[in-house]
Amino acid sequence: MKPRKIRSGVYWVGAIDWDRRLFDELIPLPDGTSYNSYLIKGSEKTALIDTVDPSMESVLLNRLKQAGVKNIDYVIANHAEQDHSGTIPPVLEKYPTAKVVTTPRGKDMLIGLLLIPEDKFITVSDGETLSLGDKTLEFIHAPWVHWPETMLTYLREDKVLFPCDLFGSHLATTDLYVTDEEQVYEAAKRYYAEIMMPFHTNIQNHLEKLKGYEIDIIAPSHGPVYDKPSFILEAYRSWVFDPPKNIVVLPYISMHGSTKEMVDYLVEALAERGVTVRQFNMTKTDIGKLAIALVDAATMVIGTPTIMVGPHPNIVYAAFLANALRPKLQFVSIIGSYGWGGKAVEQLQGMIPNLKVEVLQPVIIKGFPKEADFQALNNLADTIVEKHKEHNFA
Ligand code: FEO
Repeated sequence: MKPRKIRSGVYWVGAIDWDRRLFDELIPLPDGTSYNSYLIKGSEKTALIDTVDPSMESVLLNRLKQAGVKNIDYVIANHAEQDHSGTIPPVLEKYPTAKVVTTPRGKDMLIGLLLIPEDKFITVSDGETLSLGDKTLEFIHAPWVHWPETMLTYLREDKVLFPCDLFGSHLATTDLYVTDEEQVYEAAKRYYAEIMMPFHTNIQNHLEKLKGYEIDIIAPSHGPVYDKPSFILEAYRSWVFDPPKNIVVLPYISMHGSTKEMVDYLVEALAERGVTVRQFNMTKTDIGKLAIALVDAATMVIGTPTIMVGPHPNIVYAAFLANALRPKLQFVSIIGSYGWGGKAVEQLQGMIPNLKVEVLQPVIIKGFPKEADFQALNNLADTIVEKHKEHNFA
């Protein structure tokens, strides 16, 4: 695929990674991903915005050659993570007069991570501009999306925003622009849930700041380009600003069927009371799906058997993940079964300090559930309904 024109003098020169199935050795990529790099040819200077994952170095260098690039003046590093910065060293080797433009913190991180010499950098402050002749780049510092050094770059004359990871989606596609909104919405929500959600309060501020910019195109560093920016801006606004919904997320494990019986009963009791439940068996769940469900849920109920004296390790994983992702959850409860005793509730409660939640009366029983246990689950379902109604979670 040749460089693809977005505006006069503005080209996509990225790489599509159809086969990658795991990111950070943690995040599933069911649809692959892309590393988008953009070339901007001004009347006097040429800039490259972000690079690509080191595994795709030859793809980027080849596209630059195809674009007839003889010289690069500036490599704009919006973000120091290696899937965007990792090919800066070979680009500097190929175009030795290029300078790396980044935030002061970005410079420190790029020196630390990629051993780029200090004299290669130009650091920019928030709101600073850089002229390419007939095109002007404005740098918008945006810390914590999702690293502390990040910035967004705005191309004033063409009204194009290059936000790096923000608004991105892990989606390998030949489409330069979004064509299948449903598919991109799901991929972008997965991306938001896994990468951006822990920083949703910072992102609220960044979205407010972006209201001051006229934006015709959003060109992120992963996934297709948005030629209708309102599609992704509105989606982000709803994910970061809207109150949680009348939804319960229920990650669970059952070893011998007792916890499963409780989960099945509670799910039905909640459904009968009008609550949507998203249930995840943690032996086989795609954790991206669990993360997506956490974006909107008001309540999480954790279902666990007792191993020795604590929760099942896969449930520990789910609790740790939910704690790290800092969703908008307001309530948590724990249900499950034990054989001879245990401290699953205390241990799980200790694992979720980031979640500012009210803990609803857990239902922890001995052995297989009996009539009184089902009644306790009914009571839990009633409490969840009441709490959601009190807060108008619809
Ligand atoms: Fe796509 Fe934070 O790197």
